[in-house]
Amino acid sequence: MHKTIACGDLRPEHVGTTVTLAGWVNRRRDHGGIIFIDLRDGKGIGQVVFNPDLSPTSHTVAEQFRNEWVVQVSGEVRPRPPGTENPALATGQVEVHATEALVLNPAQTPPFSIGEGVEVDEMVRMRYRYLDLRRQPMQENLRLRHRVIKFMRDFLDARDFVEIETPILIKSTPEGARDYLVPSRVHPGHFYALPQSPQQLKQLLMVSGFEKYDQIARCFRDEDLRADRQPEFTQLDLEMAFVHQEDVLELIEELYIALVETLTPQKRLLKPFPRVRYDDAVSKYGTDKPDLRFGLPLADLTEVAHSSQFRVLRDPVAQGGVVKGFAVPGIAGYSRRQTDELAHFARERGASGLLTVPLGGTAASLDDLKLEDIPSSLARYVSLEEVRAMARATGAGVGDMMLIAAGPASTVNVALGQLRQEMGRRLGLADPNHLAFAFIVDFPLLEWNETEGRWDSSHHPFTSPMEQYWEHLEADPGKARAQCYDLVCNGVELASGSIRIHRRDRQARILRLLGYSDAEIQERFGHLLEAFDFGAPPHGGIAPGIDRLVVLLSEGAESIRDVIAFPKTQSAVDLLFGAPSPVREEQLRELHLKVVPDEEKG
Ligand code: AMO
Repeated sequence: MHKTIACGDLRPEHVGTTVTLAGWVNRRRDHGGIIFIDLRDGKGIGQVVFNPDLSPTSHTVAEQFRNEWVVQVSGEVRPRPPGTENPALATGQVEVHATEALVLNPAQTPPFSIGEGVEVDEMVRMRYRYLDLRRQPMQENLRLRHRVIKFMRDFLDARDFVEIETPILIKSTPEGARDYLVPSRVHPGHFYALPQSPQQLKQLLMVSGFEKYDQIARCFRDEDLRADRQPEFTQLDLEMAFVHQEDVLELIEELYIALVETLTPQKRLLKPFPRVRYDDAVSKYGTDKPDLRFGLPLADLTEVAHSSQFRVLRDPVAQGGVVKGFAVPGIAGYSRRQTDELAHFARERGASGLLTVPLGGTAASLDDLKLEDIPSSLARYVSLEEVRAMARATGAGVGDMMLIAAGPASTVNVALGQLRQEMGRRLGLADPNHLAFAFIVDFPLLEWNETEGRWDSSHHPFTSPMEQYWEHLEADPGKARAQCYDLVCNGVELASGSIRIHRRDRQARILRLLGYSDAEIQERFGHLLEAFDFGAPPHGGIAPGIDRLVVLLSEGAESIRDVIAFPKTQSAVDLLFGAPSPVREEQLRELHLKVVPDEEKG
């Protein structure tokens, strides 16, 4: 080794020993002829002192040192002089008095500062990712990620799970996104698809009798990217034979509780994880991934509103829509500008408008409230009794503000759900140190795809409906509920899974319902259906996303890009390598491919 101890490992117990350190110059300070270096390595930062009286040659070498140079230093560990200790650093009690110094590699001035916690443009960080990863927060994120993955592996290993790798070059496994395709050189015109998840492979492993499978699996999806989506991401993929839904949920609950309590004990946990029905989540929070760190539940005001004289509320209800609202405590005094801003927020998320209804004044209770205490257009059109009924339904009191929207249920839910989240954030109700996990259950099996005019799977085509829905499935597909579950936390979907179909006839029925012809079923899923004929056990599983979990557990990561070593940009570009990129003509020829410029495509 070029070193005898890590910079970050220096402690008072080493005083009196001679050590050799190697690392990067984090900072250099000259104090009256004495040079101080903060030397950084993977373990942390240690202080080195170059005193010309002790070693003139190493002092001369240190005079050239610049930030990020790679250097090696030897010397004696001594206590720092009283009053100069740094309690903020683990190594802050000691320093190394250099007697030898060597430049291992000088460095150019980096495009951004590594040692100081300054904001850096993300595009620049991505372009020089290897330097970005040197920075302390990124080091911590990736080390946390390592610990999370190791914890998961150990936890499952202790419960007889077998980690099995599955292929990356495979055939399309639909999860609702586009496939990344890889052309075959030896089979002209034929393509592999990168797996959107190992879904069918893990099901086949159940047929193989492994009973408990897991894998830290890379998944590939060509879809629109967002802060919590990457074209390639990592799942803890797992599958079990002979389980019911509750067996999977209990295992996952135990895993997440143990993981959080071990790795991030400073985080507060909501225990046990509530099981929330999909319908309840949507009606109460407007979303199937509610943030349960705070209340502000949505109330259905349709009943109160439909008889009112106020057309803004009455008309949408007459057209089959809903009126919903929620109470935000203590903001009755919001200015016009502030309420306009909330209305703008709701409209941007699809609402046709937002009624802001402050319950102002000094009334002791709702019963004493007067119409002039309610500076809202609502008060001009509805009776005081109707306002009071809405206040009772939403739980609003004097001093609070009701936020109300009317329209088609899905639009109202999306807009108010996001507004609820925003109010939670603004009012500081969403404590970043609090993890509110919950399982969402009883999902619909299918969703009607308006544009394509057909049914889509809510989860994926291999999910089993609850037993009682098989009988009338084709007659009323929209009614069927699935044995499917999500784990959500703080408004983020962390994991999805289901109990699977394990019989050929039933799998074929679902695929037909989704609009596949028998020929397509055979071509795309024949291998799976055939396997089901050879003794497939009942089975189910789940796939927690690792990237999103690490963001939640980290201190300050803002997107999953912050917890992935080499992520892609929002437009799926790798700025470091410059990928994707054109390839040589010869490579294309070998692959029997021709690039058709956009204008020729027609
Ligand atoms: P699903 O598609 O819901 O289920 O994915 C499971 C979890 O993976 C994470 N995830 C993503 N993370 C980052 N970037 C993405 N583009 C991305 N897409 C998904 C999320 C999500 O909850 N095979 C099924 C699982 C099963 O049924 O067992 C599946 O992949 O955290």
